[in-house]
Amino acid sequence: MLRTVYATRYVLPLREGGSLPAIVEADDLGLYVVKFRGAGQGILALIAELIAGEIGRALGLRVPELVFIDIDPALGRNEPDPEIRQLLRASGSLNIALDYLPGSTMFDPAARDAAASPEASLLVWFDAFVLNVDRTPRNANLLVWHRKLYPIDHGAALFFHHNWPARESKIESPFMEIEHHILMPWANEIQEAARAARSCLTPPLLANIVRQVPDSWLTSIPGGIDPAERRAGYVDFLVRRLAAAPIFEEEAIRARTRLL
Ligand SMILES: Nc1ncnc2c1ncn2[C@@H]1O[C@H](COP(=O)(O)OP(=O)(O)OP(=O)(O)O)[C@@H](O)[C@H]1O
Ligand SMILES: [Mg+2]
Repeated sequence: MLRTVYATRYVLPLREGGSLPAIVEADDLGLYVVKFRGAGQGILALIAELIAGEIGRALGLRVPELVFIDIDPALGRNEPDPEIRQLLRASGSLNIALDYLPGSTMFDPAARDAAASPEASLLVWFDAFVLNVDRTPRNANLLVWHRKLYPIDHGAALFFHHNWPARESKIESPFMEIEHHILMPWANEIQEAARAARSCLTPPLLANIVRQVPDSWLTSIPGGIDPAERRAGYVDFLVRRLAAAPIFEEEAIRARTRLL
């Protein structure tokens, strides 16, 4: 279960992030990178961050701890930047945040960063499963901290939810985008990773993750679908995509063969 913390201080905007994420201090004295519900990407990005992030963690990937962060809209009243004031005003109540990793750097092969094959293979499998297009050389979204890899930023995963009525058509997607994955050069055990991943992700585990998505997020999605129905839709998608895993696994292996 995700913890809930209360924001006490807006520390610093992370300007490189498209969604204007920021470092925020919370009442447990921790520093967090907050994804705001009032940001342009909207609530679906927070839902993806939660569901995909927790699936990654269940698989054994080092996703930084995710927490709900409760924000008082008044937190930003003394911020000089009107864009930040507006963002905080629009982000009252529950947002999502990742534990801030101080001194981490972005994974960069040009700086001789490298990955072990089992971990790279598992990360490729994971990103294909959750349909995450955001782990490319242009935007690795993979932090290196104390020489270990920490996947971040899963807001673009599960993009089927932007076209909810058509989600069935994505269940068996081979996810051709996997060929651009930043860890593809190291991922030479995709089959082994797939076996481990499939035995780890069970339907009850997936349902437990989806259950944590707050009602207040689900009811703020336009379309008026009941939260229970939305959650059932996510679980159904994930369970059936897991059953169809050979389709995206074969594509990932093919993409790697093309690369070599
Ligand atoms: N947990 C963390 N610890 C340290 N730095 C972080 C953490 N999370 C994010 N960052 C830094 O903040 C930047 C923006 O975060 P993130 O990628 O999650 O936001 P985003 O708005 O989705 O970005 P984009 O759309 O540009 O990829 C990252 O590129 C990274 O440099
Ligand atoms: Mg990013």
